[in-house]
Formats: sequence, structure tokens, C-alpha cells
Amino acid sequence: MASPNPDGDREKAAFKLPPALQQELKVRCAELGLDIQDAVTTAITHWRASSEAGRDVDASGAKSFSTWLPQGLYEDFKATCSARGLSYVQGLAQSIRSWLDDNPSPKEVIARPGEIRRIVVCNQKGGVGKTTISAGVAEAHAETPGLGAKCLQDFVESLTDTELERLSRTREQLFALIADYAGGGQSVLLVDFDPQLHLSNQLGIPPIPVGEESLVTHMTGEPSGAIKDLVVPIEDPRFEGRLHVLPGTREGFLLDSKLALTAAQSRGFQKEMALERALRPLEEDYDVIVIDSPPSLGLSMDTALYYARRRPNEKPGRSGVLVPVQSEDSSADAYQMLAEQIEDLEDDLRLEIDRLGIVVNLFDSRRGYIATSSLEEWHQLDGQTVVAVVDDLKEQRETVRLKRPLLAYVPESKQSNVMRLIVAGAGK
Ligand SMILES: Nc1ncnc2c1ncn2[C@@H]1O[C@H](COP(=O)(O)OP(=O)(O)O)[C@@H](O)[C@H]1O
Ligand SMILES: [Mg+2]
Repeated sequence: MASPNPDGDREKAAFKLPPALQQELKVRCAELGLDIQDAVTTAITHWRASSEAGRDVDASGAKSFSTWLPQGLYEDFKATCSARGLSYVQGLAQSIRSWLDDNPSPKEVIARPGEIRRIVVCNQKGGVGKTTISAGVAEAHAETPGLGAKCLQDFVESLTDTELERLSRTREQLFALIADYAGGGQSVLLVDFDPQLHLSNQLGIPPIPVGEESLVTHMTGEPSGAIKDLVVPIEDPRFEGRLHVLPGTREGFLLDSKLALTAAQSRGFQKEMALERALRPLEEDYDVIVIDSPPSLGLSMDTALYYARRRPNEKPGRSGVLVPVQSEDSSADAYQMLAEQIEDLEDDLRLEIDRLGIVVNLFDSRRGYIATSSLEEWHQLDGQTVVAVVDDLKEQRETVRLKRPLLAYVPESKQSNVMRLIVAGAGK
């Protein structure tokens, strides 16, 4: 039963829910500082959009429970229950149970091992090194533990005074920074979220043909199978089966308009959450997810920024955005637009998105004052740290030509060590 509320934007929905779940919901909302009506709205919205079959929840002894939902969501919820052959009691119990699991109590989170690390590599300017840095950072997280940490030590030892000056750090500061560097060994998913498919192509992985099941169909709520089936492992022995790729699709060019259409057709569909909702089923299999973003600031990019937000009680600086730039004025203008978009999203959706750092890429000291003065400006940016300054390195170009992962092709090279340094410094 639903009755309109006086404001007209929400309607009262009368449900039934077991008292234990009602109590858990009330306590969790209080702990997280949320309104129950907003939590139930999110719970039902996620449950309806989820492509995974819900687990059966014990709904015995359900008692009356009512709340206010956005207009139409109650009807949509009932339609989904009918389509899935579930009672309304079971549908709501499943929605609330998964919301509680997705939004753990602050007490549980502290006791839990680390939340999955989500690194969104972004900049709407093309050619700055997003794909390069995404792949390198993913490889550094996944490589065989041991060698990487030793290589990074030697690398810091070998840096010249000029290189240290560019980084604006002393050697001692860098040694302190890398002291707890984990040095690989993690399960990593690299997501090709750019319809130009550079990442997939560079790693020699076939992109997903237009019209087939892909990240796009999972984001727009029209998948027919499980997203796990789309993932491809990188076979190189250096990663011992821990590095996987979700290939891109050219259909990504249509993602912004598809998301807008889905939102218009399906009440309660929250566009910005689409990437998170699609990737959720994969999170249990990985320690780290790296997103290679498209060169745009559209809706797709908002979904990636949303995915980078700090989750309740996640350690600051673990997940967030990593921004490759170049030492030139047009890069500064592009960064300004990206920074504004991030701030707007934070304000609109009341999120915090951690800035994991800036990578000044393709640094060309032959450009003299232009390069050095611009580098100085990157160092002075508020709320951001320069985590690496990278030269134009031939190994990087070779590895792309050979379609081999950088850290497998030249694990001891300068460029591989730069990737490890980025991982060691990101978010610190
Ligand atoms: N540090 C580097 N040294 C040499 N080549 C690089 C370096 N970084 C990126 N490149 C090359 O520059 C081109 C653009 O980089 P890419 O990572 O594809 O940028 P984006 O993803 O931002 O468009 C690619 O051909 C890449 O191999
Ligand atoms: Mg790219």
C-alpha cells in the first residue's frame, strides 16, 4: 500500500520485515548517520538493478514496517518481486540484507581486512599517460613479491640530485616512503573503461565486439550473464595468474547516452552508481581494481569518480583518483576542469574522493623553463602531491609495440621502478 506524502516527492510505502532486520537497519542507519528512508531507497534500487540472483533470506515473523520512498519506486519494487517470483516480504528482506552487507558497521570495518583498493586513473586530456600508468600500477601490485621491493630500493639509491629535486623530496624521505612497500603479490583487475581500447590492444587482448555482453551492458542493466565471465587473465608468469583484465568495447562510446536513457526509463536508477553496481560481483576476487578512464568528462567519468569515493570507514588515501599530467600549460587547464568536476560530484552526492597524486609524465627537460616552471606549479597544487616525474622512456614505447606488460618485459628498468614508486607513494 502506498499513500502520497504532502510534499509530493515521496510516497509512504507499507511493507513487512522481520523485527531483527528492522532493528539492524535502524542501528546501522544511526551508526552511519543516514535516514532510514534513504537507506531503504538505496537498498531497493540496488537490489532491483542487481544482475545477481538474490540469496534467500529468513523472513519469518515479519512485522509491519513503513517508510517514505521516491514516487513510483514502490510500484517498481513490486513489479520486480513479481518478475522474480518472490513475495514482497522476501524481496524487501533481500534488499535490506544486501544493503547491510554493503554498508558494514564502523566497528566491523575496523576489524575487517582491507577494503578493496580502487584506483581510478583519469584526465580528460588524451595522450598524457592514463593507459600507461593504469597498466604499470596494476602490474606493480600484481608482480611476484620479492624482486620489486629490492628493485625499488636500488632505484631510489640511484636517483640523481636533479631527479630528487624534480620530485621535491630528499633520498631519506623517499626511503621512508617506500619502507612499507608491499612489492606485489596482490590479485588485480585492470578495467579498460576507454572505448578507444588502447589498454586492451596494448596488452594484446581482444576487445569485446559491439552488441555482445560487456561492461556497458552490465552498467545499463541489460546483461544476460555474469560479469566474471568477461574477465581475461594475463598469462605472463611474472604475475602468476594474479593480473586480470576486463576488456573494453567500442560500445563505450554510447555509454553516456545509454545511462541517461536507462535513468529516464527506470525510476530509482542512480546513474553515478552504475560502474560500482556492475563491478561489485567482481570485488570478492580482487585486492585491487584499476580503472583506465576515457578522455572525457561525461557521465561515464562520473561513474568512475563515484567508484573512487572513500567508502564508509575506508582508510583515507587507499582508493581514489590518480592523475597523469604533462608539464605544460594546456595540462594545467585540463586539470582545473577535472578538479572542478570532482568537487561538484563530491558536493552533489556528499562524497569524499581522495586525490592519490599527480604523475608528471613525459617530462622533457630540454624544454627548459617551460618544463621546470610548470613542474613547480604541479608541486604547489593544493591537496595534491606529485608522486612521480617520468621521462620519455624508450622501454615504454617498446613494450607497447611488443604488446607485453612493462613489468614482465623489463622488470628492472627505470620505467618499471617508476610504476612501483607511484604505488608506494599513492595516497600518502
Ligand atoms: N613515460 C613515457 N615514455 C615514453 N612513452 C610514453 C610514456 N608515457 C606514455 N607514453 C606513450 O605515449 C602515448 C600516450 O600514452 P597513453 O598512456 O596511451 O595516454 P592516454 O591513455 O592518457 O591517452 C602512448 O603511445 C604511450 O606508449
Ligand atoms: Mg588511454
